[in-house]
Formats: sequence, C-alpha cells, structure tokens
Amino acid sequence: MQIMINEIKNWLQEAAEIIKNEIANNDMTVDTKKDRKDLVTNVDKQVQDFLIEQMYDFDPEAKILGEENGRDRLTDFSGRVFIIDPIDGTLNFVLEGENFCIMIAVYEEGQGKLGFIYNVMEDILLWGGPEVGVFINEENLPAPADLDLAEGLVGMNSSMYRKNSYNAQTMAEYSMGVRMSGCAGIELISLLRGKRNAYVSSLAPWDYAAGSVMLEALNMKSSNINGAPLKFDGRERFIAATPTAYKEMMQFIGQRKN
Ligand code: IPD
Ligand code: CA
Ligand code: CA
Repeated sequence: MQIMINEIKNWLQEAAEIIKNEIANNDMTVDTKKDRKDLVTNVDKQVQDFLIEQMYDFDPEAKILGEENGRDRLTDFSGRVFIIDPIDGTLNFVLEGENFCIMIAVYEEGQGKLGFIYNVMEDILLWGGPEVGVFINEENLPAPADLDLAEGLVGMNSSMYRKNSYNAQTMAEYSMGVRMSGCAGIELISLLRGKRNAYVSSLAPWDYAAGSVMLEALNMKSSNINGAPLKFDGRERFIAATPTAYKEMMQFIGQRKN
C-alpha cells in the first residue's frame, strides 16, 4: 500500500503542475455541460487523462470511474477501482483561480482503501484510509471531537439552503452558521479537520468517494440523506458529520416538509 500511496502523491504533484501552468498561460478553454453554470475546461480533461494514464501504468487491471471524458459510469466495482475528480470546484477554478481540489479514491472489492483530496493552490493534501490513518500533508490527523451541530459550522449546498430542502434552513439555524465554498473537496477537508461539524449537499460519486474513505477512518459518519449507504451510480443527496451532529441532522431531516 505504501508504494501506491507514494505513486498517487507523485501523480497529484504532477497534476497540480499541469493546472498551475495552465493558469499561468491563461489560455484555458471553457465549455458548458448541462447548463451555463456547469463548466468543464480543457484542464479538467487533460488532468483526468494524465491521471488515467498513470493509473493504468501502475495497474493495468484497475477499473476507473472519473467525471470527464465519458468515464462517469461504472457498474462493476470488483477488484481495484480508482475514482477521479480531476478538478473539483471547476466554477471556482474558472472564476477565482483558487478554492478547487483534485480528488482520487481507491476502492478494492467495493471497500474504501485510500482517499486523497488536494487543495492545489494552498498545497494542502489530506490523504489516508482505515488501514493507515489520515494525514494532512505528512502530519497525522487525529479524529475531530464529536461535537454536536449547535457547537459548530455546517457546510451546505446553496440551492438546498435556498429551497430549505430536507429542513436545511432549520439545521443551519441550529448550528453556529452556514458555510458554502462551492467545492465538495474543500468542505470535506474542513470537516475532516474539525473546522465544520457537518456537510450536506448533492454530490456525484467522484465528489464523495475520497472523503468517505477518510471520514470512515476518523470514525465520522457519511451516507445518503436517508441514512442509506451511498450508491456510486449517480448524483445523490450526501450527508457527513460527527456522529452526534449526524444523529441530530437525521432528526431534522425526518421532520422535513420539503
Ligand atoms: C461540484 C462542486 C460543488 C458541488 C457540486 C459538484 P465540480 O463539483 O464540488 O461544490 O456542490 O455538486 O458537482 O463539478 O466542480 O467538479
Ligand atoms: Ca466535483
Ligand atoms: Ca470536477
């Protein structure tokens, strides 16, 4: 496993260089996918292609699920699966030039083994899994305190908050405040570091795969919004929190009208 960890860290560094060079060259192409706010750039595609090449070099038998270039469906999770979000927070990448991440997860026989979330511009890498523990860069990351929702901040998807889906506004009011970064990876890094007590959003498998592995390793809870295991076959409502905040949120969700 150590060999794979080192390899993935090297891929992430090289991928980050590709991204930084593209930012410096300032000649990115931006396209839309399902609507005007759903962006993809040549850099998202280039980074995913680069990572896939490294992954197949490392393990030609591996299966790959990735957001771009038609790799976004996988039905067979047997063996080793790499799950890639080449740039998480593309809207931030295009409009802010920061607050985006690269995410990679490794699953084996359907079990989360390793997760990597790299905040490129801040050079913060969270990585690890149940067998090795979780690290921030090279420092061990302890499990955050099991605080309740009222004691901390909750990360939330802006549309869920606006529409009060699943009683989101009540959860927000009960907490110390809401934060919305526009990047699942950044929210998950904050949650893993104990800077948020909870996160709720609508996410695709490549948005939650790496984070879920590390959350499990730190004894935190994640699931779909009804408490069922995540399906890895499309976008779904995602919830993650400290064990106590998770229970409280489930109660708010149970009382919902929307
Ligand atoms: C998006 C971001 C955003 C989340 C969306 C994701 P992308 O990822 O993580 O925070 O709310 O659901 O799709 O498209 O920028 O990789
Ligand atoms: Ca994403
Ligand atoms: Ca993406």
